[in-house]
Amino acid sequence: MTDRLIAVLGGYGEVGATAVRRLSEHGCTRIRVGGRNPSRGGTLHDDLPGIELSYVDIDETESLEEFCTGAHLVLNCAGPSYRILDTVAKAASAAGAHYVDVAGDVPAFRALGSTFGDRVAVFSAGLMPGLTGLLPRLIAGPGDRLDIHVGGAVGMTPASAADILLAQGPDFGESLALWRGGAVVPRSLAPLRSVQPAGFPEPVDAMPFLPTESTRMAADLSLDELRFYTAYASEAIPTTLAMAWADDPEFRDDYIELLTQAAKSDLRERDPYYVLTALVPTATGAPPSLTLRTCDPYQLSGVVAALTAEAVLQEKISPGVHFADSALEPADIAEALQRDPLVQSLSIQGPPRRTIGEHRR
Ligand SMILES: NC(=O)c1ccc[n+]([C@@H]2O[C@H](COP(=O)([O-])OP(=O)(O)OC[C@H]3O[C@@H](n4cnc5c(N)ncnc54)[C@H](OP(=O)(O)O)[C@@H]3O)[C@@H](O)[C@H]2O)c1
Repeated sequence: MTDRLIAVLGGYGEVGATAVRRLSEHGCTRIRVGGRNPSRGGTLHDDLPGIELSYVDIDETESLEEFCTGAHLVLNCAGPSYRILDTVAKAASAAGAHYVDVAGDVPAFRALGSTFGDRVAVFSAGLMPGLTGLLPRLIAGPGDRLDIHVGGAVGMTPASAADILLAQGPDFGESLALWRGGAVVPRSLAPLRSVQPAGFPEPVDAMPFLPTESTRMAADLSLDELRFYTAYASEAIPTTLAMAWADDPEFRDDYIELLTQAAKSDLRERDPYYVLTALVPTATGAPPSLTLRTCDPYQLSGVVAALTAEAVLQEKISPGVHFADSALEPADIAEALQRDPLVQSLSIQGPPRRTIGEHRR
């Protein structure tokens, strides 16, 4: 695909290693992989001896500048993302590189501002956020009601746990809210206990939380109504989160370990699974719907980040600062996901005459 240099920060982490593997598989021949302890990239280097392992610490300006030097595109898979904000994006810009961030979201987008010279910057290029705002665009349109459920039982990395703990406040979304008639309507939904949305292998607790990404999608698509639920296999994670958010923010990092343990406890009784399902309820006929299943949302986020980087390299995204869900072409990404081994199944039943396809593994 390209012999220009792609620099992947956090490239030997859970998300980053998969992004590096996919970029290499898809024909990127020069990949720089960085973090504070590059010896952790040994296995990746054994598998992909052509990659360059490099020391970089985001908190050391000089090493970050050096890491970005010569890169055509910087892909940021390091975390916690809500502490990094736009630090890496600014370093990429100074080096004249394009930028893709697997997270970042509204806080980083706002910090960076709306211009990026003649280059492209894309935030929120993962599964959630990312696919949660992108794939439903294949099945829903103006005037529709759309119901989304996403979640399951999977392990949690400390970087992700830290981000989840930081993701509180209006930049991230609103609990119990839904979108209706062009506006966010607060306190409109209640938690649902032991429900089994289509596509889930077991009953789950579904907590209403309207992410800012979904609000943006609802406005873009002129939806009539949007209900978004995060699905939990047990009470372990929601209980830990409730305790953390009730506590003094000064002690929030104390909950990182508790949250990773809570995620681990869900896996004592079941195999890992993760489902994203979206449905447009209809009075008659087969409702437009999509269901994506994976056992690893971290690695799948790495796939999405790599596909986003490829879309930038192929000049499919115009210069400027974007969110992945509104910059990527949903049908292209769905097609690529249907071929990816990390996707256990992806079925999409579009509105009449817009059925996209089905794939099962
Ligand atoms: N959008 C989505 O759906 C989605 C899904 C999953 C994760 N994420 C986000 O992706 C990010 C990474 O998650 P992960 O699960 O892959 O975490 P991880 O496995 O802990 O990987 C984080 C990587 O970042 C590197 N890193 C951390 N601090 C650094 C620093 N100061 N300077 C340089 N490198 C640093 C780490 O290497 P060293 O520690 O050796 O430096 C490691 O390689 C998190 O922000 C997470 O919230 C997004």
